[in-house]
Amino acid sequence: MEQIQIIDSKNHVGETVTIGAWVANKRSSGKIAFLQLRDGTAFFQGVVVKSEVPEEVFQTAKNLHQETSVLVTGEIREDSRSKFGYEIGITNVEVVSESHDYPITPKEHGTDFLMDHRHLWLRSSRQHAIMQIRNEIIRATYEFFNQHHFVKIDPPILTGSAPEGTTDLFETNYFDQKAYLSQSGQLYMEAAAMAFGKVFSFGPTFRAEKSKTRRHLIEFWMIEPEMAFTHQEESLEVQEQYVAFLVQNVLDHCEYALDVLGRDKEVLKTYTKLPFPRITYDDAIELLKKNGFDDIEWGEDFGSPHETFIANSFEQPVFILNYPKAIKPFYMKPHPTREDVVICADMIAPEGYGEIIGGSERATDYDFLLEQIRNHGLDEKEYSWYLDLRKYGSVPHSGFGLGLERTVTWIAGIDHVREAIPFPRLLNRIYP
Ligand code: 4AD
Ligand code: MG
Repeated sequence: MEQIQIIDSKNHVGETVTIGAWVANKRSSGKIAFLQLRDGTAFFQGVVVKSEVPEEVFQTAKNLHQETSVLVTGEIREDSRSKFGYEIGITNVEVVSESHDYPITPKEHGTDFLMDHRHLWLRSSRQHAIMQIRNEIIRATYEFFNQHHFVKIDPPILTGSAPEGTTDLFETNYFDQKAYLSQSGQLYMEAAAMAFGKVFSFGPTFRAEKSKTRRHLIEFWMIEPEMAFTHQEESLEVQEQYVAFLVQNVLDHCEYALDVLGRDKEVLKTYTKLPFPRITYDDAIELLKKNGFDDIEWGEDFGSPHETFIANSFEQPVFILNYPKAIKPFYMKPHPTREDVVICADMIAPEGYGEIIGGSERATDYDFLLEQIRNHGLDEKEYSWYLDLRKYGSVPHSGFGLGLERTVTWIAGIDHVREAIPFPRLLNRIYP
């Protein structure tokens, strides 16, 4: 008997096949049992009719518990009543391994309980849908950057540098030295851009931030493209094309997952329209002031109510350009005519999801950077290699970092980043 995966059912209609699966749920009467089956690729229904199978098969099916693993055999048929469109008419059930008293039942559970059972919670249809969207965003990321001739480069995770400032570093011992878990691969990606032109990274990054919001993880995954011979304006074009491409690919390839999550696809479609609006930091402050926000002054960073208000003033994701130099990292290019701002942009997602991209043009002047490193209290010995990049054929270059979990949270339309990563690391949680 051919063993198939549920997702391939459409290619096996009318055939008798075997599927390895778990029993996600079960309903039965005296005459018929409906098994909700999942195999990781999808969920669908198995139907066991008492009068059509040997008595022991029906009894086995009737007595299955939630999350028992099984090998089911039967005929694939179309099922117009289900969203998935196919089901299996079961003729045999073989139990692989029993499951008793599975803790996550179809009733409601509290968030803490579910987080404590994250290793099991991942099996549920909603979590499955979110991870499908995450997977599609990762897949589409590789496709986009490959199409545009970027080389994937992997920066180190153990580093001696602190690109985003020293306040939220995870320190560890590196034999007789100190090392940090990477906050961002950017500085290494700048070296890589000078070697390969256009590069991107995708990897875990760490921030020891004492933030307990729905947007903050301690360990999150970032995509960091870096482009030689590229100024800010061209970088913004890459960013908006990339984000629109991600949304379009989720629409094209994750329709079922979006339906499971109840995400409005018409709303998502508006996020594929280019270009995305741009507003300067100065104008954003003015916009906020005009609308009754007196809790922010020029020079301060936006809080989430500010970002949400700015985002709600536009239909698509919006770029906020040229922030004050004092609140941004050391490596950003100074504005040509203004001392107080730098050439940078954050992309703010619609619907209150906040900043999903931070990026900038990079400073190229050796002396300026050295002074910045000193002013930011960084150890200049650790940055000597980085300064070398400005000594040997320095070129204008720009790059950005997209936070994967925030992007998944936004596109999937869920409430909190903790569901956008398989095993979230949060301020008060490293279990499981
Ligand atoms: O704005 P950030 O800190 O920028 C950088 O790290 C740059 N070095 C990137 C670059 O230019 N190569 O972080 C980039 C993005 C944010 O916009 C956000 O989406 C995400 O990373 N991010 C977080 N996501 C979840 N939890 C956190 N604590 C995050 N901090 C940043
Ligand atoms: Mg940022």
